[in-house]
Amino acid sequence: SEVAIFPGDPTQIWQYQAVVHRGNKNRVVEIPRSYLGPTIRVRQGEKIRIRFKNLLPEESIVHWHGLHVPAIMDGHPRYVIPQGQSYLYEFEVNNRAGTYWYHPHPHGRTGPQVYRGLAGLFIVSDEEERAVGLPDDEYDVPLVLQDRTFGTDNQLIYTSGHRMEQMAGFLGDMIMVNGLPDFTLPVSTCAYRLRLLNGSNSRIYKLAWKDGRPLTIIGTDGGLLERPVRRQYVFLSPGERIELWTDFYDSQVGYETSLISLPFDTGGMGGRRMGRGMMMGGMGQNQNLPNGAGFSVFNIKVTQRVEKDQPLPEQLSEISPLQQDEAVNFLNPRQFFLTMQHMQWSINGRVFQMEEVADDEIVQLGSKEIWEFHNTGGGMMNMMNMPHPIHLHGKQFRVIERSGVMHEGYVDEGWKDTVLIMPGERIRFLVEFDDYPGLFLYHCHNLEHEDMGMMRNYFVR
Ligand code: C2O
Ligand code: CU
Ligand code: CU
Repeated sequence: SEVAIFPGDPTQIWQYQAVVHRGNKNRVVEIPRSYLGPTIRVRQGEKIRIRFKNLLPEESIVHWHGLHVPAIMDGHPRYVIPQGQSYLYEFEVNNRAGTYWYHPHPHGRTGPQVYRGLAGLFIVSDEEERAVGLPDDEYDVPLVLQDRTFGTDNQLIYTSGHRMEQMAGFLGDMIMVNGLPDFTLPVSTCAYRLRLLNGSNSRIYKLAWKDGRPLTIIGTDGGLLERPVRRQYVFLSPGERIELWTDFYDSQVGYETSLISLPFDTGGMGGRRMGRGMMMGGMGQNQNLPNGAGFSVFNIKVTQRVEKDQPLPEQLSEISPLQQDEAVNFLNPRQFFLTMQHMQWSINGRVFQMEEVADDEIVQLGSKEIWEFHNTGGGMMNMMNMPHPIHLHGKQFRVIERSGVMHEGYVDEGWKDTVLIMPGERIRFLVEFDDYPGLFLYHCHNLEHEDMGMMRNYFVR
């Protein structure tokens, strides 16, 4: 379809469009003037049925990012359907309340399909969350961050044709929020819950408030934290979500601020800078807005006075303590090395094969495990070091350790399904494969890396 993003010619896009059964109307919220798909809102415990009909001129399948669903409902690329066919999703939503999302997952084509507009939010609520009493309705604002490049004819440009560009990942020169450029959020003088999703193909944001206030984070990928945490800045890599609490109670009407992305070093272990003239900077990266450049993400303007004083809750949820020693491989964690092999990003030296599972990718149903990821970089080619956001399908996990850390902007406290690993860093997470046997994926959520094969199956049996 097409959408009028700029004056003049409409932009040709691909979009998830909803045909909704009458009783479900309030569950599906269209975002006006945007290429994004509708926001789906459900309650924990509800059974849902969604029929995906593929009207694209190529294969596709829908993946529910962050949701704990049976393998056949997870949108594995081996379930792709061609144009004209349908795939029926039926599952019970048993995730915690949180900000999840959906996007295509055909192998080798996820990057271009998401880029053309295929993505949407899937928001779950539950009893625990309702009891906390957070800002809701117009004070609960989902914000999808993406970067895009448009030609003078208003059409999307996706350049990832060359190997070098694919190795770096696609980077656009315009920041879009909910599918709109130059985004300004009008607010009243009260508290807000901002749900941020990084829906970009490969751009990482280092988020901070322009006015220098710290960020107050109340939630991550898998829902609310136990209690709010403060950070001067927070990294948000592709696929990750973060929920912010922000209060304009003390602000005057007319006050303006912005959420910005601070400049940062994406480079090597010693904090080596990847120069513009070097390989990634010169050939792969977008010259106008490289990864790690600083820019404004969106503006906020206080436009209305309301008398509504809502204090930030001290306790948001209950999260069980980490019991690492319950992991079956407590003494000997499963290890994954993120490296480059023959000009291709790989995991343990392997790239994706549709049905392939290696011996060390089989896990026992009902077991708790520790998985350890090392971002060792490009080996001899140090300038090829890159951050990798690692994502696990099927389950939320808990980060238990991060070492070799060169930054502070991580929120590892809560439930996660995607975790940013900078060059030289090593992380460990704890995950329980409590139900749902079958074939699931883990991969880098830099979509060009994923499309190149920086993705593997794991098998729960
Ligand atoms: Cu959001 Cu396998 O992806
Ligand atoms: Cu996913
Ligand atoms: Cu990667």
